[in-house]
Amino acid sequence: QDTKLIDRFGRQLNYLRVSVTDKCDLRCSYCMPAGFTGFEEPENWLSFAEIERVVAAFGRLGVGRVRLTGGEPLLRRHLPQLVERLAALPEIQDISLSTNATQLHKHAPDLYRAGISRINVSLDSLDKACMQTITGRDSFSSIMEGLQAGKRAGFTPIKLNMVVMAGVNDHEVQRMAEFCFNEGFILRLIEAMPMGSTGQNSQYRDIGPIRDELVRQFDLIPAAEELGGGPARYWRSRDGQATIGFILPLSQHFCATCNRVRLAVDGTLYMCLGQDEKFELRPLLRAGISDEGLEQAIRQAIELKPEKHEFTTQRHKIIRFMSQTGG
Ligand code: GTP
Ligand code: 5AD
Ligand code: SF4
Repeated sequence: QDTKLIDRFGRQLNYLRVSVTDKCDLRCSYCMPAGFTGFEEPENWLSFAEIERVVAAFGRLGVGRVRLTGGEPLLRRHLPQLVERLAALPEIQDISLSTNATQLHKHAPDLYRAGISRINVSLDSLDKACMQTITGRDSFSSIMEGLQAGKRAGFTPIKLNMVVMAGVNDHEVQRMAEFCFNEGFILRLIEAMPMGSTGQNSQYRDIGPIRDELVRQFDLIPAAEELGGGPARYWRSRDGQATIGFILPLSQHFCATCNRVRLAVDGTLYMCLGQDEKFELRPLLRAGISDEGLEQAIRQAIELKPEKHEFTTQRHKIIRFMSQTGG
């Protein structure tokens, strides 16, 4: 069908990540450096109406899934109103949210009512002090409260994202797995991607061996069905009660099946997390471009999508921080 978005490498794009703010109340070491001040000016933030227009255009081009990200998306005022508007678009079937959950206890019921169907939460440690070190703030209790509020609001299962870092939290994987199994969360172990700093990716930890150990210990088998639209590969226990996902951008490349691009809060479309190719939509939106023009521009942008990222454990190629595109 010719409305579909197919890139130069034959991949169909059906998943859009929308960052609604580049601000965050935490400072996770792998995402945004302490003391960072380079935030986008409010006049450059896309309005809800502008975001809705872009999402609607993607929808007409075959994108049915949207994930809201940040920074921390719950810092954007009135977010449930945006969710409602996106949920009303006929082509959009799935709206999900990636959050740090520090504010989730305040917003969970509203988000659920507005149409968020799935929530992913960052949680790298079960140790309060370790969380303070990783996130730069005293975040643990509010996150725990947020997780329980998320459950109560009806978000099940919630996925927990754990960026596994050498010498920081890699000793906690088993404890985290047990916590998630008991609480009914899906744990996802993620390899740290080197973004926005110089020098070595010292936090990198190859998760392959950790996965092999978990598979043995919990007698896991590969899960057949898809659980979301992302790059995770899932394993589960034989009774189907416990599920763990693995997101291994460095040790196990998944770019050949990439289905996504990212809209930043300033209206920049980023073609790949680990590359610089981008396309500016804000000037077009503010110059009053037509719906057809917008679709044309998106097609043009997709032509720029590179084949794969070039993250390595040695070298930082990408200068923007993860907080700009929300992972
Ligand atoms: P679902 O599968 O729909 O639940 O979402 P997701 O896993 O795509 O989203 P989430 O925001 O929870 O991201 C989890 C991790 O996957 C983060 O570390 C992201 O940076 C990473 N990730 C998501 N998409 C990509 C991608 O296209 N490329 C790379 N390299 N990493 C990605
Ligand atoms: N490498 C890997 N994952 C990251 N995330 C944020 N920064 C990085 C990074 N440098 C993950 C967090 C968050 C998700 C949206 O992105 O786990 O939950
Ligand atoms: Fe904030 Fe999430 Fe980045 Fe941590 S990973 S600094 S919680 S945006």
